[in-house]
Amino acid sequence: MKSYLIKGVSVVGGKPADLLIRDGVVAGGGGKADETIDAAGLVALPGLVDLHTHLREPGREDAETVETGSRAAALGGYTAVFAMANTSPVADTAGVVEQVWRLGREAGLVDVQPIGAVTVGLAGKQLAELGAMATSAAGVRIFSDDGHCVADPRLMRRALEYVKAFDGIIAQHAEEPRLTEGAQMHEGEVSTRLGLTGWPAVAEEAIIARDVLLAEHVGSRLHVCHVSTAGSVEVLRQAKARGVRVTAEVTPHHLLLTDELAASYDPVYKVNPPLRTAADVQALRQALVDGVIDIVATDHAPHAVEDKECEWAYARPGMVGLETALPVVLSVLGEKWELIAERMSRTPARIAGLTGHGTDLAVGSPANLTLVDPSARRVVDPAELASRSRNTPYAGTTLPGRIVATFLRGEPTVLDGKAVK
Ligand code: DOR
Ligand code: ZN
Repeated sequence: MKSYLIKGVSVVGGKPADLLIRDGVVAGGGGKADETIDAAGLVALPGLVDLHTHLREPGREDAETVETGSRAAALGGYTAVFAMANTSPVADTAGVVEQVWRLGREAGLVDVQPIGAVTVGLAGKQLAELGAMATSAAGVRIFSDDGHCVADPRLMRRALEYVKAFDGIIAQHAEEPRLTEGAQMHEGEVSTRLGLTGWPAVAEEAIIARDVLLAEHVGSRLHVCHVSTAGSVEVLRQAKARGVRVTAEVTPHHLLLTDELAASYDPVYKVNPPLRTAADVQALRQALVDGVIDIVATDHAPHAVEDKECEWAYARPGMVGLETALPVVLSVLGEKWELIAERMSRTPARIAGLTGHGTDLAVGSPANLTLVDPSARRVVDPAELASRSRNTPYAGTTLPGRIVATFLRGEPTVLDGKAVK
């Protein structure tokens, strides 16, 4: 294994220093190395951790594979991603989660941690084999029916009770299905103008309110996926003030884009939950700064061309996000490196109980890190994405920051902005 001397790097925005990486760990503040990287002007962050990635394998390898998604993640500065369970077959058994986990290890570009389904086939009728997934080689700790809401309150309660025994987490896609039947976009002025069926904010807020009460009752851990409304922020704020064990994520796109974009009828802007209003965007940004929202998670949702480049009503919801997440967050928050490290690396790792990620880049720490050039600007070109899908809402947009290098346990996965393998 080669050693690397990263010269003159600003660690999480601090004063320039040298960082020696040897034998998989941060070995010191200087010394001899096989390779030297001139990192003047670059910022080192602990490797980013994404709690919400769709990798599409098994089943839709035409849209993404564990390997292509892992490469996209590494290029985005990530060293660990959590793979959602809505694959085909669904990751609702020990066999499927072990398969995803093994494919992640084989790709070797980021640590891929499978999320298990809460219910069999994501059908919301019967609990999946949570215990078998937890004790499998994949060691699943987070369960989610993401893409679908666990709408049945009794099943949700049972799931929370079940995972409590091993301090597991239920990650909820909060969407009251009866309130979103036929929904195409956020319910509001724009949906009225366009004549599209609306997805009301209350469909999210009602489920979060219910679930924080259930989590409080059971004394178990709830994680709320892709929070998208100002009202949800208020429900979370109150629950946290009461001491409920709830954490929450926001996506980069909900921090930047609004429902006005639907007026183009370009399905690249169709996503679930939908893009909301400018007031919601403001509330989400503030909640991320305050800590009411704990983390940024991408909800990277690759889709094949035929599933996305069609009429709005038929298009699948979702956007790719791994390769643009940090630039989008930089454009929203500015160069608040401590906050970015907290919300995109340390806290997601802590929520997931993922050791070895999200640690300070101190001597002896696993060398999971990424180097960012904050002064660079990049025009997003979908053709240049490593993801197998092209459904980015940022095509042609100029975003700040370029990921120059990423290291996974001391081995570069990205160098000079390019994937190493
Ligand atoms: O936009 C979305 N896409 N939201 C989800 O909840 C699921 C995801 C997907 O799997 O494509
Ligand atoms: Zn979801």
